[in-house]
Amino acid sequence: MSVARIAVVAGDGIGTEVTAQARKVIDAVLPGVDYHEYDLGARLYHRTGEVLPQSVQEELAGHDAILLGAIGDPSVPPGVLERGLLLKLRFDFDQYVNLRPSKLWPGTTSPLAGVKPGEIDMVVVREGTEGLYVGAGGVLHRDTPAEIATEESLNTRHGVERVIRDAFDRAQRRDRHHVTLVHKTNVLTHAGSLWSRSFAAVAAEYPEVTTEYQHIDAASMFMVSNPQRYDVIVTDNLFGDILTDIAAAVTGGIGMAASGSVNPERKYPSTFEPVHGSAPDIAGQGIADPAAAILSAALLLEHLGRHDEARRVTEAVAAEVASRTPGAPLRTAEVGDRVAAAL
Ligand code: IPM
Ligand code: MN
Repeated sequence: MSVARIAVVAGDGIGTEVTAQARKVIDAVLPGVDYHEYDLGARLYHRTGEVLPQSVQEELAGHDAILLGAIGDPSVPPGVLERGLLLKLRFDFDQYVNLRPSKLWPGTTSPLAGVKPGEIDMVVVREGTEGLYVGAGGVLHRDTPAEIATEESLNTRHGVERVIRDAFDRAQRRDRHHVTLVHKTNVLTHAGSLWSRSFAAVAAEYPEVTTEYQHIDAASMFMVSNPQRYDVIVTDNLFGDILTDIAAAVTGGIGMAASGSVNPERKYPSTFEPVHGSAPDIAGQGIADPAAAILSAALLLEHLGRHDEARRVTEAVAAEVASRTPGAPLRTAEVGDRVAAAL
């Protein structure tokens, strides 16, 4: 029996290149993984007009996790691959925890003056299956001066409470035991009230975890003025989308930003992918930095309960990044080789 069944969706552009390195590193730390490759993304779309065939989705469901590279190409109309693949996986596989850790690693520099490695270490737990992403709403009187477009945010007690509970569980396991709820309760009073009440109810179950509330506008400001203050942040789908890009920027850019779209119960496979896109401008040259893809593989290992392997991979990436010579960029495969060799 294999140690794990992993579906590989390398995708478009640099996705293929960075995913190969992530696999190399998984193999170095956990031999015997059973991989199945799925050619999804722009190529499949152009060839067949399909984005995620039903049969493929059923096969994906039989895996322990999905390792994803990057999806997206300028030749495909915007939204087709995003909605048809990334969001479809999140919704259909109930990946309600969108996990985005941000850390300022040694060897990387923050655009914030005076912030030293180690001082920023947070994780954003972004809700992944509700909010404004559900696609509810519509357009009336299209292409007339009276046109009206609505976009509704869906928030359920069940959905809000479970993602908040996941954030508290994580905070409990981390050093600082702190959770910040980010929303806009002064304006979005319906959903805001649901989030606040759910947060208070769950907080009562975790007496060791300290809590705080911030509006999204204030949190965006603190994210660039004092990101050191955060430990775990829990927030709604769209707020989390925006906030995690800022978090990535203050921790040295998306080169190191890993993410997981997680179904914590493991009833369905979770997807692990670098936050960066397919970067068509540098695709095929072997120069993309695979660090974020390898760190995403570490999140995958963690999710599968391989805590020791996950920690070793993360530490090896951190050491590799810290050892880089400024002005002498490594090739994609060299980074993978170095990390794998350190294991
Ligand atoms: C992300 C991306 C996606 C999102 C897009 C591509 C649908 O921006 O994973 O953050 O908005 O969630
Ligand atoms: Mn985003």
